[in-house]
Amino acid sequence: MKKVLVTGGRGYIGAHVVRALINSGYYPIIFDDGSNTKMPIDQKIAANFMGNIALSGSLETLFNIHGDSIEGVIHLAGKIYVGESVADPIKYYEHNVGGTLNLLKQMSAWGVKKIVFASSAGVYGDCPQGGRREYVGGLYPTSPYGWTKIYGEELLSKLNFKHISLRYFNVAGCDINGRLGDTRYPSSHLMPAIIDSVIMGKPMQINGGDYATPDGTCVRDYVHVSDVADATVLAYRNLDNNFEGMTAFNICSGIGTSNLSVIRTAARIFDFEFDITKAAPRRGDLDILIGNDDRARKLLHFQPKYSNIETMLMTTYQFRRKNSELIYKV
Ligand SMILES: NC(=O)c1ccc[n+]([C@@H]2O[C@H](COP(=O)([O-])OP(=O)(O)OC[C@H]3O[C@@H](n4cnc5c(N)ncnc54)[C@H](O)[C@@H]3O)[C@@H](O)[C@H]2O)c1
Repeated sequence: MKKVLVTGGRGYIGAHVVRALINSGYYPIIFDDGSNTKMPIDQKIAANFMGNIALSGSLETLFNIHGDSIEGVIHLAGKIYVGESVADPIKYYEHNVGGTLNLLKQMSAWGVKKIVFASSAGVYGDCPQGGRREYVGGLYPTSPYGWTKIYGEELLSKLNFKHISLRYFNVAGCDINGRLGDTRYPSSHLMPAIIDSVIMGKPMQINGGDYATPDGTCVRDYVHVSDVADATVLAYRNLDNNFEGMTAFNICSGIGTSNLSVIRTAARIFDFEFDITKAAPRRGDLDILIGNDDRARKLLHFQPKYSNIETMLMTTYQFRRKNSELIYKV
């Protein structure tokens, strides 16, 4: 069996990627420091390593044991909060850029050439022409988090790895069997926060109401986490394809939905009246961030199956209800 190292494999996206790899006949090794997840470890993996990617020692131990049998890497580990990156940029450069470099160093030493990198829509940032984010429009990140993703992408190409960078947009939902999902509470992600309001009957906070959008709330492109996991395995399988040197792919639905509109959909499907409170806009947040998924559809044959707002809300609800003890216990 082919061993694939998944950094951040216990995380929200990582747990889904690990499951998708197993379903596709791979044998994942997880590397995660457990800093941002309560997900139990998938039992069908090859090995689990608890370690911090920003410290080279634990990766070195992992590669000393498995280096000669690792075929490639899916790199998801890192810090993920835009606002926190504005407040503490060094932490983000240390874990996301320094951590990536530590990983590439071990991969080089052991002759592992293949890597799929979890980049982000945050690399596009505030590009002047607005609209759906295209590859040609330039990169204008508004946060250190976005910059760390650009540096990560650059390291992979400058150091000549066989790589694909997936620019994930707003990942949401949970696997349709209710086994895997986002275990964080409280959550800064919109859909889990909405579901927590529904389950606990608490007010729902919206950050900022004066964005340049039709209803004043941010517009985002939501893509289901199971579709993201499938896209990630598709990308991994295509690492030997050159795609004429194009290595970045948007993983998105291509559809923009405002925060308020997601809340209204939730109000309808759960028959719940939200008590909405307004809070200050978050630093680094953009008005609108919608992607163009043409290239992923055409070249990777990416076909999102679950990326509609109702399914993403419903699966989030099912996961949080089913796993409420894990999620809500303090
Ligand atoms: N969720 C999204 O909407 C989204 C959008 C764009 C990009 N991404 C990227 O996808 C990747 C996965 O995101 P996610 O939403 O699953 O987040 P997550 O926090 O659930 O996953 C990241 C995992 O990495 C681990 N981790 C953090 N720092 C680490 C370190 N120093 N060493 C080892 N492990 C560490 C965490 O414990 C966590 O399990 C991230 O790189 C993120 O930037 C996510």
